[in-house]
Amino acid sequence: MCGIVGYVGRTSGRADAGHTALDVVLEGLRRLEYRGYDSAGIAVVADGEISSRKKSGKLSNLLAELDARPLPESLTGIGHTRWATHGGPTDQNAHPHLSDGGKLALIHNGIIENFAELKLELVAKGVEFASETDTEVAAALLGDIFRNKLGGDVSDGGLTRAMELACQRLEGAFTLLAVHADQPDVVVAARRNSPLVVGLGEGENFLGSDVSGFIDYTRRAVELGQDQIVTITADSVTITDFFGAPAEGKEYHVNWDPESAEKGGFPSFMEKEIHDQPDAVGQTLLGRSDIHGKLTLDELRIDPALLKSVDKIIVLACGTSAYAGQVAKYAIEHWCRIPTEVELSHEFRYRDPIVDANTLIVSISQSGETMDTLMAVRYAKEQGAKTVSICNTNGSTIPRESDAVLYTHAGPEIAVASTKAFLAQITAAYLLGLYLAQLRGNKFQGEIKDILADLAKIPAKIQRILDNEGQIKELGEAMADAKSVLFLGRHVGFPVAMEGALKLKELAYIHAEGFAAGELKHGPIALIEEGQPVFVVVPSPRGRDSLHSKVVSNIQEVRARGAKTIVIAEEGDEAVKAYAEHVFYIPETPTLLAPLLATVPLQIFALALATAKGYDVDQPRNLAKSVTVE
Ligand code: M6R
Repeated sequence: MCGIVGYVGRTSGRADAGHTALDVVLEGLRRLEYRGYDSAGIAVVADGEISSRKKSGKLSNLLAELDARPLPESLTGIGHTRWATHGGPTDQNAHPHLSDGGKLALIHNGIIENFAELKLELVAKGVEFASETDTEVAAALLGDIFRNKLGGDVSDGGLTRAMELACQRLEGAFTLLAVHADQPDVVVAARRNSPLVVGLGEGENFLGSDVSGFIDYTRRAVELGQDQIVTITADSVTITDFFGAPAEGKEYHVNWDPESAEKGGFPSFMEKEIHDQPDAVGQTLLGRSDIHGKLTLDELRIDPALLKSVDKIIVLACGTSAYAGQVAKYAIEHWCRIPTEVELSHEFRYRDPIVDANTLIVSISQSGETMDTLMAVRYAKEQGAKTVSICNTNGSTIPRESDAVLYTHAGPEIAVASTKAFLAQITAAYLLGLYLAQLRGNKFQGEIKDILADLAKIPAKIQRILDNEGQIKELGEAMADAKSVLFLGRHVGFPVAMEGALKLKELAYIHAEGFAAGELKHGPIALIEEGQPVFVVVPSPRGRDSLHSKVVSNIQEVRARGAKTIVIAEEGDEAVKAYAEHVFYIPETPTLLAPLLATVPLQIFALALATAKGYDVDQPRNLAKSVTVE
């Protein structure tokens, strides 16, 4: 996810501290590298002009550019690391984007949902665009308002007033930072559903996506609320809402060291990423439907006629991504009535699969580089199939080689064990399923709108689980000596059970298996002995009743043989209490969406257990984040 830094200092402050905007912004960008990015850029205000440099690739590329073409010394600057969403990771698409004849520079994190409509409006006014980004549209809008609506008048708010008016027009999620050559001592920023923190200094002030952006300079920070604008100078911080009404932020002291700041204050990237999940799902949903609940998957550039003719879907993936596919299969078949298979990529092409032009291949890969999945996609293309990639890494090989791509917007996943990417993959696959149902007329628009509304409630529900994680953490710590843990589920709970087991295997190195609960009696029940811990993912009692009661029967079967049962159930399901040693409740949600919630306690459990054993949860032994060999 993009990283953002802003700085304003003053001459005396600079004399004391020796900071220039370039020093501070580059150091901040270096600290924000952990967020993942594929290009970087910087703009400073000096001598009545904006000077900017930007480069695709790592910060070292930007540094080389700055060596070759140095920036003038300045005390006002903004800097950005970009994680590509709209438009590939090129120099042109990198931020900052300029407008108002090069006098205004803007950087952005998030997605402007109505950028296409705004762009048409601006093009009609004669604005020309050089990039494919939504950000350049925001820059042009801000420049147009500053120059044409406010007449470039800086006496009455100037850039701040222009930012208010621009924000009133923007939809989606955004953090924006802008500088203008006519207001050389000011950085103006705005936030909606995207992170931004202010750092308070002496004779200098800072802005960052998070405190890592300025942690080397100050520990005094101000948290902003939603829909707020902040204007910083060297000596002042002024906060308003999008309509100019005064607002307040909450000041706090940052006591993290720089290393833990990169992990958002969490002890590991994995824990941070588990806590990123409300955002991962929220961002993946963002901008993909209109207010009428109509899906608008613009990036899915396959002829709708071809999608209508699909008579079979094959999902190709490995590991956690394959479990996301297995969850999605239930939803896609239910919504679209298209037979859907899920196949491990490395098995697929060695079994002479039946694939033709009416087969839609959906590959799921966080990294977009998994060799097994790449080879399987290539094979399917050779057989004439159409290929859609669900991927978290913009510009990676699998989406590049696929006919279409639906990006998940989980942000970079650094811990080897996949968490937030899993939930984002399920979300994206659900969007694809709903899109196909919309296109093929399998569902009424109102039904799709209702499902999207239920999906939109998921981030807050995940947050509720995270807010109450203490109980499951304690259980994980208490079970550090467990030698084997089994996981049971039915329907969508089955892949969730397998994912819970995989997390435990890869993090805690103990035997763990996920079974379809109905399969127990066909063999696995022989594993149950006195004290065997068994997690059971229980479906909602409000769903298909037989499903709930069948799983409750399965709990009784293993308990009768001495198992210690740990149950994940829906709030209000009192019936399960009688059959469980421990019950962890998740918020009510429709059955098909429940994996987006039920997985979270299992991740927290595995993390807590492995941490109690003293293992490195970010880099488990023998594993690589991206498996680029077959
Ligand atoms: O990058 P991909 O999603 O293609 O990776 C697939 C698997 O290697 C990955 O999900 C792996 O199973 C994770 N370590 C699971 O936590």
